[in-house]
Amino acid sequence: MIDIVESEGFCAHNFKFVAMKLIASLMMPAALAVVAVTAFAADAPAKPDLAKGEATYSGVCAACHGAGGNSEVPNYPVLAQQFPGYLVKQLQEFKSGKREDAVMQGMAATLDDEGVRDVSAWLGTQKAKNGVAQSKDLAAVGESIYRGGAQDRGIAACAGCHSPNGAGVPVQFPRLAGQHQEYTVKQLSDFRGGKRTNSTVMHDEVKYLTDHEIQGLADYIAGLR
Ligand code: HEC
Ligand code: HEC
Repeated sequence: MIDIVESEGFCAHNFKFVAMKLIASLMMPAALAVVAVTAFAADAPAKPDLAKGEATYSGVCAACHGAGGNSEVPNYPVLAQQFPGYLVKQLQEFKSGKREDAVMQGMAATLDDEGVRDVSAWLGTQKAKNGVAQSKDLAAVGESIYRGGAQDRGIAACAGCHSPNGAGVPVQFPRLAGQHQEYTVKQLSDFRGGKRTNSTVMHDEVKYLTDHEIQGLADYIAGLR
């Protein structure tokens, strides 16, 4: 009796072992195929078509974001010289609704993936004009937090991620230098109030900032170059 159970156990175990080996050997090529497909997909997006990007930009976007991505209107962000990777993320998130803005969700919806890639790549090649801070006192409030953070509230220095001169660090940390004060105030307030929800890092960073500090940071950033 015991013998039979044992041998059955052995058989079952053996069968499992064989089955697992079989599955493993079947999965190997599949896994390799996945790797191959992924590698191919990574190469697949052909080089961005800058001419197409420029055409889209001039035809649709320039009306608000200005010639060459240098918007002259304070609530329309400057896009020139921004990292294409950051722009792609924003446009895709406007498309999916992860970043909400009635106007931009409509604009982004007109672009397919290639369109997003091309216009973002072209904007990255444009040179941003310098901006200016409006108020010495406000900019001083901003400078202190930008460079040193606010230890009392666990707020890290903005410079640590966006670089001391606001040039940003590709691809994750966007360029801020020279951005319109009004646009930056809106973004920081939206991150703080949970209206812009596409970055927990930025939400946590600004959740304890006061309105006055947000104004100061935005003014300081406008003058960075
Ligand atoms: C009618 C005006 C208008 C037009 C046209 C427009 N935009 Fe915008 N865009 C805005 C506004 C307003 C915002 C700021 C949204 C917010 O407050 O979050 C914005 C934000 C953006 C952002 C986010 C920038 C950042 O730094 O996070 C990108 C990227 C962008 N627009 C790209 C485009 C592209 C590409 C086009 C053309 C296909 C375009 N926009 C057309 C008004 C416009
Ligand atoms: C730990 C890194 C980190 C720190 C510190 C940080 N940021 Fe950011 N910031 C980011 C990332 C990442 C994004 C991009 C969010 C996204 O993908 O939408 C961002 C986005 C922003 C934007 C939106 C830019 C645009 O064009 O819409 C502003 C404005 C900004 N940060 C300002 C600040 C300020 C001011 C501080 C300091 C109080 C700060 N950041 C500190 C990582 C950081």
